[in-house]
Amino acid sequence: MNHIIIEGGHRLSGTVHISGAKNAVLPLIAAALLPDGVSEIEETPWLTDVCYMCDVLNYLGAQTHYENGTLQINSTGLTDCTAPFEEVQKMRASFLVMGPLLARLGAARIPLPGGCAIGARPIDLHLKGFEAMGARVTIGQRYIEAQVNHLHGARIYLDFPSVGATENIMMAASLAEGTTIIENAAKEPEIVDLANFLGAMGARIKGAGTDVVRIVGVGSLHPARHTTIPDRIEAGSFMLMAAITGSELFLENVITSHLQPMIAKMNDAGVRIIDEIDGLRVLPSGPIMPVEIKTLPYPGFPTDMQAQFMAYLALAAGSSTIRETVFENRFMHVAELAKMGADITVKGHTALIKGVPMLKGAYVEATDLRAGAAMIVAALAAEGETVIGQVDHIYRGYENIVGKLIDVGAKIREE
Ligand code: EPZ
Repeated sequence: MNHIIIEGGHRLSGTVHISGAKNAVLPLIAAALLPDGVSEIEETPWLTDVCYMCDVLNYLGAQTHYENGTLQINSTGLTDCTAPFEEVQKMRASFLVMGPLLARLGAARIPLPGGCAIGARPIDLHLKGFEAMGARVTIGQRYIEAQVNHLHGARIYLDFPSVGATENIMMAASLAEGTTIIENAAKEPEIVDLANFLGAMGARIKGAGTDVVRIVGVGSLHPARHTTIPDRIEAGSFMLMAAITGSELFLENVITSHLQPMIAKMNDAGVRIIDEIDGLRVLPSGPIMPVEIKTLPYPGFPTDMQAQFMAYLALAAGSSTIRETVFENRFMHVAELAKMGADITVKGHTALIKGVPMLKGAYVEATDLRAGAAMIVAALAAEGETVIGQVDHIYRGYENIVGKLIDVGAKIREE
């Protein structure tokens, strides 16, 4: 299946179960390399990115088994420190095995992760952390190699609060000798989720979720069982699908506090949201109000919601601006939205979205994961049929999205 076809203009109704977070479970899977034995991660979403990560672990000698939403990882057989070239090229997050490999084996050989559609995605901050902890790092044409007898604690200042660098350094520091302090650390909920998993393994971590994380290294870690936090970006995407179609949807399995930056902006745009005990309810909302958005590291407005919100604002009663500050090239969806009649101009890192009365179905492409979600948001409200190509990007981060939308009344199919 590499197309999704949507007939727009239909109201949605009912309940959507939000899956475990892609951006939490990928570092959790890497962390399961740290102890010797079998760890279990519940609420693991069955995504292509999860499959890629499991392929990397299998290649390294660990065993993985997925059943009924629970991923079992047995890292007893971890022998190889070289990650597979194809998998790392396919998915940048596989670079997260570098910290655990250095901590566990004292060596890591990782293919240079490809950039991707949304930017160069350097890894200098990851390497800065490992070198500060005593690793000798060499960057070759195709691989990055690192060796260390034993990692030692260090004070590491991140020039940018990189999510991946914070995660990689946290994992490495868990088994280092002494204390590591990460300053200007990323504060995303996924960092806290990883710290909770590491803590369950016996790691000593304080400050996760703040900009200073302290890790006191321990001699060894033991396997643990953990439940992945819900996916705040999937939840935000469904909230906009409800809002743009004037629908009432109930989202179960959400942590409202993780959604606050999005909820605040959606409220400004006229979306009515009720925080109920066991989930969030989006109510049929009035006209879409124009807003100004600037993407920022958490707890700012998330860059991973930028494309979807742009699709929503394409139908606003007025002009909005979106300034993308995290990635250098995350406006690939603008041209695709324009094919549907959106009126958007980009100047540097800022997009000006002039609301139009209507979007028309068209043939569009999912240029990257979140751009794909934006196409679905727009297609659900567009007049007529939209065909979305390159949908493999969407399946990387949205579990059973077509099935979930069919269950709430969307006219959507795969071909
Ligand atoms: C994580 O990517 C997420 N992916 C991304 O989600 C998310 O957009 C991003 O964090 C920001 O929130 C996963 O968690 C698997 P970063 P990551 O390191 O860790 C620069 C999605 O759609 N940087 O915080 O790669 C970098 O160039 C994906 O689900 C350096 O300069 O993001 C970028 O401009 C997309 N040097 C900025 O930091 C480094 O060593 C943010 O990168 C590392 C990063």
